[in-house]
Amino acid sequence: MAQLNDIRGRLALITGASGGIGSACAHQLAAKEVHLALTYSSNISAITALREDIQAKYPALRVSIHQVDVGSADQIEAMFVQIDQQHGQRPDILVSNAGYGKRIQNVWDIPLEEFDYTLNVNLRASFILVKGVAEHMKSQRWGRIVFMSSIAAYGGGINGCHYAASKAGMTGMMKNLATRLSEFNISVNDVAPAMIGETGMIPNAEAIPEVAASIPIGRLGLPEEVANAVTMLVTTGYMTGQSLLLAGGLK
Ligand SMILES: NC(=O)c1ccc[n+]([C@@H]2O[C@H](COP(=O)([O-])OP(=O)(O)OC[C@H]3O[C@@H](n4cnc5c(N)ncnc54)[C@H](OP(=O)(O)O)[C@@H]3O)[C@@H](O)[C@H]2O)c1
Repeated sequence: MAQLNDIRGRLALITGASGGIGSACAHQLAAKEVHLALTYSSNISAITALREDIQAKYPALRVSIHQVDVGSADQIEAMFVQIDQQHGQRPDILVSNAGYGKRIQNVWDIPLEEFDYTLNVNLRASFILVKGVAEHMKSQRWGRIVFMSSIAAYGGGINGCHYAASKAGMTGMMKNLATRLSEFNISVNDVAPAMIGETGMIPNAEAIPEVAASIPIGRLGLPEEVANAVTMLVTTGYMTGQSLLLAGGLK
């Protein structure tokens, strides 16, 4: 039964690995001897440094990097072709983490194009990614899927209704997929963070004292803490259909 949750030698696809939370997930899964397919959109220096760091620590692991705008179905398809070529298989673990959210709070200020783009990158991409891995996971009767949602899916958040809609959509899709895929031993969950520092989303160190004052636990969260939840989910196959709020006491 131990092998049910043994992820050594599995292949994980982590989107948005050039960012704060994605890179922390990559480090933790590499430490568990998981091969990695890592995506970035624009930050090639961050993803290159991440790959070099992981390859230096774990030379036996395969670590591929792929540039992809997850708002484009064609680019996601091209990424899967690269993964097939470089790893000889589809991912066993999917962490759909790449995300986008421009802080525009008033509905009258949010252009329709911004709404569409945000839903494409956060919600539609997760659907396309799941379609790209589901057949493989189903055929081997083992798979782990984790979406990176947000506190915005729960309480609306600070970014605007377009971002909240995209993240709440991910949680709804996650719950449906969990019920459909559990018979194939594929778990589907999400992590819903808030106020995670050392990320592109919350980058400004100078803003931390004011921001931290509004968080019950009195500090920003760490990318490693989000990665802890992701690692727990991919090594705990009995947990499925759950959304884990990781928000320092914020609601
Ligand atoms: N930080 C927080 O407090 C917080 C709270 C709630 C939810 N989240 C979620 O956590 C996830 C990771 O964000 P983060 O906090 O780690 O921020 P981050 O450091 O800015 O990382 C965002 C990642 O997403 C990638 N990305 C953005 N747009 C993309 C696109 N169109 N196609 C492909 N990749 C794209 C970025 O790639 P490049 O940098 O290479 O362009 C980067 O790797 C996101 O889904 C975000 O919504 C974060």
